[in-house]
Amino acid sequence: MSVTRRGFEGKRCLITGGLGFIGSNLAHRLVELGARVLIVDSLIPAYGGNLFNIAGIQDDVHVNIADVRDPHAMQYLVRGQDYIFNLAGQIGHLESMEDPQTDLRINTEGPLSVLEACKRSNRDAKLLYASTRQVYGRPRYLPVDEAHPLQPDDCNAVSNIAAEHYHRVYFHAYGIRTVCLRLTNTYGPRQMMKDTKGRYAFIYYWIRRIIDGQPLTIMGGQQVRDYTYVDDCVEALLMAAGERQADGEIYNLGGEAMSHPTLADLLIDVASGGRTELIELPPERRAIDPGKVYLSYEKIRRELGWEPQISLRRGLERTIEFYRKYRDHYWNEADVAEQQIGGLQLGSGLAGEA
Ligand SMILES: NC(=O)c1ccc[n+]([C@@H]2O[C@H](COP(=O)([O-])OP(=O)(O)OC[C@H]3O[C@@H](n4cnc5c(N)ncnc54)[C@H](O)[C@@H]3O)[C@@H](O)[C@H]2O)c1
Repeated sequence: MSVTRRGFEGKRCLITGGLGFIGSNLAHRLVELGARVLIVDSLIPAYGGNLFNIAGIQDDVHVNIADVRDPHAMQYLVRGQDYIFNLAGQIGHLESMEDPQTDLRINTEGPLSVLEACKRSNRDAKLLYASTRQVYGRPRYLPVDEAHPLQPDDCNAVSNIAAEHYHRVYFHAYGIRTVCLRLTNTYGPRQMMKDTKGRYAFIYYWIRRIIDGQPLTIMGGQQVRDYTYVDDCVEALLMAAGERQADGEIYNLGGEAMSHPTLADLLIDVASGGRTELIELPPERRAIDPGKVYLSYEKIRRELGWEPQISLRRGLERTIEFYRKYRDHYWNEADVAEQQIGGLQLGSGLAGEA
């Protein structure tokens, strides 16, 4: 089943974190579906926000540079919105261990601020929240389904669990329609590439290295992960938004599962060249590494009809093609706030309300 234009045409859609990876891909799709899109993003420099991510749709969306933790801004911005896709977040698991309080503020206080804003100014909106498979920690069984115990191994997972619970409380207590999706490793065009150490995720790091002719560093080599191409993730968000049956629910996403060495081989094949190097898993990563993990997406398949459409090979082909073409907009962005889109700079006409 795919999302039709009818469901979103003319609808007002707020995307927090809309200048980031998943949010901007969602914005492109919503514009295609005829929605009225308002993006809210703080453009915190270390994270994935990048103005180039909305190149091509910059005249079709409104952008408001604001922090989701600002209750006054959010109370104003959620008004009149039909759908709110809450994708603003600090995505680094290592980061969350080094600075757990910032992680808590962004990933728990942020979503709570959006929920509070809806409670006060717009209880009719439907809210979609992007959580993470890391909430399960090291799996007790595979594939991991939604009934698996939550046993977080890092602070980012703790923040996400708290945020999920807030969504549940606001659904039951105030009738605000919320859905939480537990995302697994999501990849594709418009993902942050400026980090040179793979601290936020290793897949973009490998893609960057293969394009730069550098070896793919396999850390440990025992890990198995599953991968969702970003278009499939966007489709899941839209399907969950459009389905009443999803209200109050939590769903896993998922995709093809593969060991790190096998993924490296696939990437080398897709890129027509490359090499690997094996190193030990550094201690700070070992402490929070879930080992072999992949999710069951049976619940969302059964209830909403979602399943991944893009194979890992095809997704990697598209991703590499994108970054080979637009490399300069992703590698050299020391300061995203100075980026330009066709002469438009931040503060010269992009900010506004939908
Ligand atoms: N990409 C993945 O593999 C993955 C996996 C699991 C969960 N998720 C979740 O999905 C969401 C989106 O992830 P992404 O990969 O697009 O990350 P991203 O870093 O590319 O995008 C996040 C965006 O949020 C913005 N942001 C951060 N803090 C903010 C704040 N306080 N106020 C307003 N904007 C803020 C950033 O500027 C950035 O543009 C995140 O919540 C993340 O935890 C992603």
